[in-house]
Amino acid sequence: MASILVIGSGLGGLLAAVRAADAGHRVVLVTKSQLSESNTRYAQGGIAAALFLDDSVDAHVLDTLRAGAGLCDPAAVRVLCEEGPARVRDLIRFGVDFDRDESGVARGLEAAHSRSRVVHAGGDATGAAVEAALVATVRRRTAIEVREHTMLVDLLTADDGAVRGARVLGPDGVQRNLDADAVILATGGAGALYKHTTNPSVATGDGVAAAWRAGASVSDLEFYQFHPTALAVPGTPLVSEAVRGEGAVLRGSLGERFMLAEHPDAELAPRDVVARAIARQMERQNGAPVVLDATGLGHELLETRFPTITAACRTAGLDWAAEAIPVAPAAHYWMGGVETDAWARTTLPGLFAVGEVARTGAHGANRLASNSLLEAAVFADRAVRALDQPWRAGTLPHSRIEISTISIHGLPNETAIGSPSGDLATLVDRPTLQHLLWHSAGVHRSGLGLAAAAATLAEWSSPAASSTSVAALEDRNLLDLARLLVTAALAREESRGAHYRSDFTETQPELAQSSSQARSQSLELVPAKEAIAC
Ligand code: SIN
Repeated sequence: MASILVIGSGLGGLLAAVRAADAGHRVVLVTKSQLSESNTRYAQGGIAAALFLDDSVDAHVLDTLRAGAGLCDPAAVRVLCEEGPARVRDLIRFGVDFDRDESGVARGLEAAHSRSRVVHAGGDATGAAVEAALVATVRRRTAIEVREHTMLVDLLTADDGAVRGARVLGPDGVQRNLDADAVILATGGAGALYKHTTNPSVATGDGVAAAWRAGASVSDLEFYQFHPTALAVPGTPLVSEAVRGEGAVLRGSLGERFMLAEHPDAELAPRDVVARAIARQMERQNGAPVVLDATGLGHELLETRFPTITAACRTAGLDWAAEAIPVAPAAHYWMGGVETDAWARTTLPGLFAVGEVARTGAHGANRLASNSLLEAAVFADRAVRALDQPWRAGTLPHSRIEISTISIHGLPNETAIGSPSGDLATLVDRPTLQHLLWHSAGVHRSGLGLAAAAATLAEWSSPAASSTSVAALEDRNLLDLARLLVTAALAREESRGAHYRSDFTETQPELAQSSSQARSQSLELVPAKEAIAC
């Protein structure tokens, strides 16, 4: 029996905790907000898996590779698609009640899928249904100690570089160390880097930042996916791809279906293509959002199949059965993250990463819709199976480009990135950082814009690691991540998947490699007075 620290309570963290407890381990699960809050909870479309007779693992693999724009790790994709159906059945056993129709389990179509294979629950409330079932399962396991309102500050590393726990900030406002034999990071993505995002406010990339500071390799950080259709009202709630899968269309200010001229699959083109086309159309309209016309689907279908979106429209004073609704792209999902192998092992012994915090290689440069919950489930299960195996640090099986922060002109050097507290004048300000990233490292990028952003980011200082403010510790993470993302985006001199540069518009076949960044030396962590063994 080992002591396992799981950090994060989306699908990946909850499932890893349950699996680890069932395998006989003692588990502490910490989460920054309440147990049920996470990015998972807001997932709408569903979970893609080859569950149906007219589908196959090979077809799912092919669609995933195509969407990934040459940057997927084929071995990770195969694991995802082969083990996905079994993990969906596990979720059913844990109590997820997927929607049914006359043929059995109901399924939807989403962009860039060659067939309907996306299962969903509560219409468009799939994430909420998954989260509720797994929270209830965790609550039933006495071997899992849950600590809510507890934020990851930094990872604890031993002299040999192995991760041996984490420093956390508790609800009492005190930082303390939690020791563990292994840590499973499941902290999700970092939508808070951007001015417009579909993510909840907890998505501040804490795990990616802490892993990088501890010396883990992070990969493909330039690839941030922008969902084409967030409702263009404050809070930018998601409007699922599944709505377009059911037949809704996008229109410009003159009522024209502009996607017809953009791609043979029109509204069901890959996500990055649709997001860029909308951004261009918005430029032509002086920044006004485009509209999504779902009026042809009828009141009853919209209410029953998409109750979450119907409620969001109603809150915004919109009746989407009667009128087209304003939509615009918003930051949605980070393909990059902490580099892992096919067993969720990072490059640091004792540290695993599952879900959006990880870069498994399954998504490449552009994640296929509804593959994210699947990835979290598949690799959470694998991480726990790997706990009992002798440690082998994760390595990428294929070639990659190592980005040296220092070698890039105009960028902050390593001592500036991750500096524990700055003696520079300007403390990072979150809204200004979000505005900067949205305009310089968003849907469209350019070398000039990225270099200017890098220079601005280099001037800001980071709140101290010893802070007892959650917001300040999040800002520390966001500043580190913004610098790493901009560094990676500047280094990739091509356009590929979600990374589009107006100064390098073509995809370069020789750059079909992951990018990788690692801090050469881990931060020296000050031991806490009080260490609590998990
Ligand atoms: C959506 O419902 O459009 C989101 C699905 C996803 O991000 O995979």
